[in-house]
Amino acid sequence: MRTIGGHIGYGIRPSERNKGYASYLLKEALIKCKELHMGQVLVTCDEDNIGSAKVILNNGGVEDDLFITEEGQLKKRFWISVKSS
Ligand SMILES: CC(C)(COP(=O)(O)OP(=O)(O)OC[C@H]1O[C@@H](n2cnc3c(N)ncnc32)[C@H](O)[C@@H]1OP(=O)(O)O)[C@@H](O)C(=O)NCCC(=O)NCCS
Repeated sequence: MRTIGGHIGYGIRPSERNKGYASYLLKEALIKCKELHMGQVLVTCDEDNIGSAKVILNNGGVEDDLFITEEGQLKKRFWISVKSS
């Protein structure tokens, strides 16, 4: 989970994509993570998944090192802080 997979995953049905739902979904999930005092949340996506990377960046994701799977797939990894101020 620390390398790929991360804490949160999401998928939007094709007919409803590009309407802001994934960005909203991740925002709501991060509120739950904050309630759980998780501190830092890892969210990952395939290197060529531009939509998912934007969803993560829309929610304050800070990019970490790329991870290469045993199959040679490139995975982007982002950390999002949910620390209480
Ligand atoms: C990736 C996915 C979750 C995005 O969901 P969504 O509801 O369309 O995302 P949003 O509407 O919140 O879009 C967020 C941003 O990404 C952009 N975007 C969405 N899909 C995109 C695509 N295929 N290519 C480029 N940009 C895209 C939107 O225009 C938006 O840009 P903005 O922030 O500049 O306005 C959705 O395409 C999906 O379910 N894909 C299949 C499953 C998957 O890949 N899940 C993620 C696994 S990590």
